[in-house]
Amino acid sequence: MKVTVHRKAHFNAAHRLYRKDWSDEKNTVVFGKCNNPNYHGHNYELIVSVTGPIDSETGFVIDMKVLKDLIYEEVEEYLDHKNLNEDVAEFKDLNPTAENIAGVIWNRLRAKIQQHLQLEVTLYETPRNFVTYAGEE
Ligand code: NI
Repeated sequence: MKVTVHRKAHFNAAHRLYRKDWSDEKNTVVFGKCNNPNYHGHNYELIVSVTGPIDSETGFVIDMKVLKDLIYEEVEEYLDHKNLNEDVAEFKDLNPTAENIAGVIWNRLRAKIQQHLQLEVTLYETPRNFVTYAGEE
């Protein structure tokens, strides 16, 4: 029997979406307001979902305290109040779209969660725009 547990988290971060190899006009057409040269912030809402068997001794899929601390260390401390383009190594040459941020978060958490557990992250960039990533190529 497999069960999915979910933990919510939150961080604020700034970004700018653009490609250096595109003209200003093309960047504005493709990325709209997110191309603003002076950056802008989003209130990101994150849901981390872990699926696996219930441990027969503890009754847990994963200890929520462990998951909470992991999200704090790997995501909130790492991304909260950062300029994603300037401050976060993964985005040096990667556009910090919601899709790519979800991928970065998934990779950081995946490395710290037991391999027999499945991991999915859901990232809201606005209340209406959100992405999910579960590690598929
Ligand atoms: Ni934006």
